[in-house]
Amino acid sequence: MSKTEPPGLVAQGARGEQLVEQWVQQLGLSRAGEDDPVRVVLSDQGGAVEFDVGGQRARFRLQLCGREVQGRVKSRVQSKDPLLKAVGRKKRVCDATLGWGRDALVLAAAGNEVVGIERNVVVGRLMALAVAAAMDDAWFLRWVAPRFRVQVGDAATVLHERAFDVVYLDPMFGGEDTKGQVKKDLAALRALVGEGEAGAGELFAAACAAAAERVVVKRAKNAAPVAPGVSFDVPGKAHRFDVYDIVR
Ligand SMILES: C[S@@+](CC[C@H](N)C(=O)[O-])C[C@H]1O[C@@H](n2cnc3c(N)ncnc32)[C@H](O)[C@@H]1O
Repeated sequence: MSKTEPPGLVAQGARGEQLVEQWVQQLGLSRAGEDDPVRVVLSDQGGAVEFDVGGQRARFRLQLCGREVQGRVKSRVQSKDPLLKAVGRKKRVCDATLGWGRDALVLAAAGNEVVGIERNVVVGRLMALAVAAAMDDAWFLRWVAPRFRVQVGDAATVLHERAFDVVYLDPMFGGEDTKGQVKKDLAALRALVGEGEAGAGELFAAACAAAAERVVVKRAKNAAPVAPGVSFDVPGKAHRFDVYDIVR
């Protein structure tokens, strides 16, 4: 994985000042300088990521509720979504590569108990702010919040501490999503985390040890499996989900 510089922090308003001060103290980050290619703006609205993409300045604000998010999640939950086919419903699921939680929201809204683990502290903290902001939203409160927890840490370690029915891994970036917002999600994540696969070998081993029923790994359509022994796969439009049934 390519290395990224930590983002600079920008405060807006009194709440932003408070958050920036906390992040400086607790995460060892600095206030943004003139040349910082990636900035995180903190305000009473939560957090936004500013970054360069194709020579243009872009801004991404993570939102876990609202019409667009709710519509996207609902339509996946109500359709034959390949992720849900691979993971199942009413399971104890660990989403061990949480990112912006797009998949985790679908898993939780479909009735799974989801613990989402994110290794990048900035992404994890932005997720936590977005969850707090979504607590005002009736749909999120009813369909996601009761079954969704965010934990910041390395899943390869956290998975040793708890048992799950299913562990889900999405160590990759890319895909062929065409909606502008989705592209911006991934570009912002890449700006914070770097490119490429995420130490998938060690994580896969930890996932197999922690899962009682199965491990599900998202792959680009034509990519090789992360490990041999795929029990079956569920094809999607741009991806497929490799399912490893756990037999003890
Ligand atoms: C491709 S993104 C996942 C996108 C996610 N499925 C979504 O729906 O938004 C991969 C994420 O996994 C995180 N990650 C990679 N290795 C990890 C690990 N060992 N523990 C926790 N998070 C990890 C990365 O920091 C990155 O945010």
